[in-house]
Amino acid sequence: MSLEGNVALVTGSSRGIGKAIALELAAKGADVVVNYRRQRQLALDVVTKIRAMGRRSIAVRADIARLSHVMALMDRIAKEFGSLDILVNNAAISAFRRVEDMRDRDWDRTLNVNFKGVVWCVREALKIMNPNGKIVSLTSFGIFTYIPRYGPIAACKAAIESLTRTLSVELTERDINVNVVNGGPIATESLKFFVAEARQWSERTPMKRIGTPEDLAHVVAFLCSDEARWIRGQSILVDGGMTIM
Ligand SMILES: NC(=O)c1ccc[n+]([C@@H]2O[C@H](COP(=O)([O-])OP(=O)(O)OC[C@H]3O[C@@H](n4cnc5c(N)ncnc54)[C@H](OP(=O)(O)O)[C@@H]3O)[C@@H](O)[C@H]2O)c1
Repeated sequence: MSLEGNVALVTGSSRGIGKAIALELAAKGADVVVNYRRQRQLALDVVTKIRAMGRRSIAVRADIARLSHVMALMDRIAKEFGSLDILVNNAAISAFRRVEDMRDRDWDRTLNVNFKGVVWCVREALKIMNPNGKIVSLTSFGIFTYIPRYGPIAACKAAIESLTRTLSVELTERDINVNVVNGGPIATESLKFFVAEARQWSERTPMKRIGTPEDLAHVVAFLCSDEARWIRGQSILVDGGMTIM
């Protein structure tokens, strides 16, 4: 499986799962655009690692919750690389609240980053995406099981899964493949909000551990490849078997 000759954008790839995905796509041969919102140095460190693999890479600051930022991000990619082959919708915020505690501004921010941001990235990316492109979005097991204070984000993730099925059909005429990787709990900074739950999740998982960013990144990279061409509009659950226990 090779991604050589592909240009990939991974939103929110300065750290966590996005970083692992950016490095995995580069390891498979892709040139990678590293997007971040705040932590420039972390993004530059990822770029340095990718360049050391012999791939082209740039870091671009853009808040995906702002349409003007997303448009500028795609303009920059068009200018530097000419076009785009792979979009990975990874960026998300962790604003964890019970539904009844969500203020209007919490809903605005949650929806803008976790759902509208994805919609904007897809729409604007399509303007520069080549035929045979790939779109992979990250969602979570929280869409079908209860996680305390995760309801608002889960609702956005469920909407992304629904949108994926529609897009996969609508984009067939452009031969663009659209799928989701639905992750179980993964050891990133987000998990510090779920210390007690993480212990239970780990205990419930057959291998008795929480997933790593790399556990997800391998599957994302596969879905970005031509070998995954017969997987269309699907959500692939990657949870180490936790939800069957
Ligand atoms: N961790 C889990 O257990 C888990 C499980 C299943 C699925 N997922 C999904 O996997 C994805 C990554 O999760 P993670 O745990 O790695 O998250 P994370 O550690 O919180 O990292 C989030 C990344 O997104 C960036 N980001 C946040 N808001 C942004 C915005 N408005 N515009 C651009 N970039 C933005 C952050 O950049 P800055 O630091 O610069 O803000 C950071 O690089 C998310 O979609 C999440 O829902 C996570």
